[in-house]
Order: sequence, then structure tokens, then C-alpha cells
Amino acid sequence: MPALVLLGAQWGDEGKGKATDLLGGSVDYVVRFQGGNNAGHTVVVGDQKYALHLLPSGILSPGCTPVIGNGVVVDPAVLLSELRGLNERGVDTSKLLLSGNAHLITPYHTEIDKVTERFLGKRRIGTTGRGIGPTYADKINRVGIRVQDLFDESILRQKVDAALDFKNQVLAKLYNRRSVSAEQVVEELLGYADQLAGYVCDTTLVLNDAIDDGKVVLFEGGQGTLLDVDHGTYPFVTSSNPTAGGACTGAGVGPTRISRVIGILKAYTTRVGAGPFPTELLDEDGEKLRTIGGEKGVTTGRDRRCGWFDAVIARYATRVNGLTDFFLTKLDVLTGWERIPVCVAYEVEGRRVTELPYNQSDFHHAKPVYEYLPGWSEDITKATSFADLPKNAQGYVRALEEMSGAPVSAIGVGPGRDETIQLRSFLD
Ligand code: IMP
Repeated sequence: MPALVLLGAQWGDEGKGKATDLLGGSVDYVVRFQGGNNAGHTVVVGDQKYALHLLPSGILSPGCTPVIGNGVVVDPAVLLSELRGLNERGVDTSKLLLSGNAHLITPYHTEIDKVTERFLGKRRIGTTGRGIGPTYADKINRVGIRVQDLFDESILRQKVDAALDFKNQVLAKLYNRRSVSAEQVVEELLGYADQLAGYVCDTTLVLNDAIDDGKVVLFEGGQGTLLDVDHGTYPFVTSSNPTAGGACTGAGVGPTRISRVIGILKAYTTRVGAGPFPTELLDEDGEKLRTIGGEKGVTTGRDRRCGWFDAVIARYATRVNGLTDFFLTKLDVLTGWERIPVCVAYEVEGRRVTELPYNQSDFHHAKPVYEYLPGWSEDITKATSFADLPKNAQGYVRALEEMSGAPVSAIGVGPGRDETIQLRSFLD
């Protein structure tokens, strides 16, 4: 049975939590493969709303095993506090599996993230300040601390000492900050060891065995395609690969094992943090999208930048991820506009381009070319089938599908778990 990848097709916050949770009942394993607690999933179950940052949203489905793969960066304090929060609300979290190869976000990573942003001034990325970039940098520099290091005090001590030898020089001499005590960091990390030990295993083995056994495995991306460190709007990106290939490296499964790649696509566009955004609206329409769509970051509480749907980006996401389907979310937010602009191409220095410019300056200067689709005013939140949607809402979905290069298999028409129209199963 299928191994599915579910990922953001824009700049993140497309409503992945809802999509994952919708599938949760039929899925055996939900796996996070990159990012850390910079992600934010809001999942609504009945009248309960859950905000998850690090844990896979499948943790809310009783039959499902949640997995944190090797490609994730884990802040152990956040992980334990998220687990405690769920336990207090009666959610059983005992099935969680955590890769021993995942890297740990330590207090010095968070500190370096914050001071670097301050140092960059107006060139700052607008990171979430959670230590994500510095932790991945250490991983690539081969000076990172992994989950398995928690269980070998001597190795842990050596690694923290070695990392801080250099970092304390940078903190003190470059950023004029106090140095970090290696002893304190080691003590803090050792304090997490017993609490995490029961979750740690070789997750690549478990997942490959699960696929061999015909289980349904869902790989859940954090952030989105345009925040990918290779394929996004570099340098205004996160430090991992939220695109489909990231599922393979970040979970230890081969590309031949993946059967479907589903892109979550918001019916308009949002982005948090700095960087280019051709369809951004700085007017009343942008404010209206933000208010109706509740566009505030789950992790940072920052207002999201809002704009019209961008088909150039959607087509790009189809290409770099090999998308087989789209889950179109938040269609209800567009109710009430007489006509809805959709960006079909860009104008770059007087030329019309229909593919994402690979040159960063061209993308920074890209101006949206809009087509206008007729809007609708009827409430669509109670629609349960495509036929229930007003004709113009149907037309909007079909037009987006045509422009974006993959079929729309589900449509979100409201925040609730049931407020979704499914056109085609994701599990065929
Ligand atoms: P970092 O991931 O904290 O290093 O932040 C890098 C960029 O990615 C910033 O623009 C963040 O706002 C953005 N970012 C990180 N996580 C998310 C997310 O889950 N949704 C949307 N944007 C995100």
C-alpha cells in the first residue's frame, strides 16, 4: 500500500495539519522528515483546537504511529513540553518514535539564531528564532549533537566542548554576548535522556519494514516548497528540504518507495518573514484575506503577508516535487469577492514569463500578470460534494487545477476536520 508525501506547495502554512489529520484514520505511520519546531500545524478535532510545532499531526489519531525522522532538528525541551501538553488533554503519545540520528537544537543554537538575525539588521531572513539554521549548519559542518549522543555522557561532553570552543569565541568576540557554559548545556541535555530514551529507535528500519508490510506511511513536510534551501527563494528560506526528495533523505526511504506526492495549496498565497512575493497585497484586500483567513503564524504569532493565488508558483511546485495531486485549502476565505485575480504569469523587464525565473534578481523584479475569475457570495462551508459548490467556485477550482498542472483531489471549505470535500481518495 502507498507511501505518501504531503507537503506545502507555496511558502508554508497551507493547512497541512488538516490534510494530514483527515488522512490520519487510515494511515499507520505519520513521519516528519525535516524542519523542527519552526513548523506550526493547527488541527481542529471536534471542538478542540491543537497547535503542534514539532510532533507529527498524526499523533492525534489513535491508530497511527507518529515518527520524528533523522532529517528533523529536535529541541528536546519543546518536544517534552508538547508531549506533556497533549497528555494533559488526554492524548496518548506513547507510540511516538524518535530517530537516534536526528540532530538536537541546544540553547546555543537558539541564541546564535537570534543574535545572527539582529546582526544582519535589514538583511535579516525573519527566521522563527528557534535555532533551526544554526543546528542544520552544525550538522553539515559535522559538529552537531544527535539524539543518540544523549545516551553516552562522555561523547556528549566531548561534542559540546568542541562545538562551544568555537562558538563561544564568535558569541563573545563578534556578537559581544556572554559565552555559554558547556557544563550547563551538558547537564541540561543529560536531564532529557531518561525522558526520551523510550521513544528512540532506528526509524529508517521501522519505516522500510512498514512499507514492506503494506502499511500506509505518510511523510508530512513542514514549511513549503518555496522555503526549500535548494529550490526556494534563497536566501529567504529555511535550512532544510521541505520538497519531496527531503522525505527520502530525512526518513531513510528510497524514492522508488514513494507512491503519491500531494501538494497542499492555499486558494490564495501567504508568506511569513522576508523575501520576494510577487502577488503580495499591501492594501485592503490583503488585510481582508489576513482577517478572514486568520493569517497569523502558529509558531511566532506574526501576521502573515497575504496575496492572490500565484499559478506560476503552483506549476513550479508540481515540477520540483513531481506532484500527483493537490489538496486545495481555504477556498471559503475567498467567498464574497466579486472577481478574484489569479496570477498566470510574470512580467520581468518587459518580458512575459510563465515559469518561475531561476535568476533571483528576475524573481525579485517579477510583476504579476493577472487574469480575473468570477467570484461567489454563497456560504460554502457546508458543501460536502463538488456539486454543492456554487458554479463560480467550481470554475475557480477547475481553473487553478488547469494552471497548476496536477489534479485537485480535495478541497478545504472551512477549518473543521469535516469541512473538506474529497474528490479522489489519496490511498488508491
Ligand atoms: P527558520 O526556519 O526559523 O530558519 O526561518 C527561515 C524562514 O522560513 C523565515 O522566513 C520563516 O518565517 C520561514 N518559516 C519557517 N517555518 C515556517 C512555517 O512553518 N511556515 C511559514 N514560514 C516558515
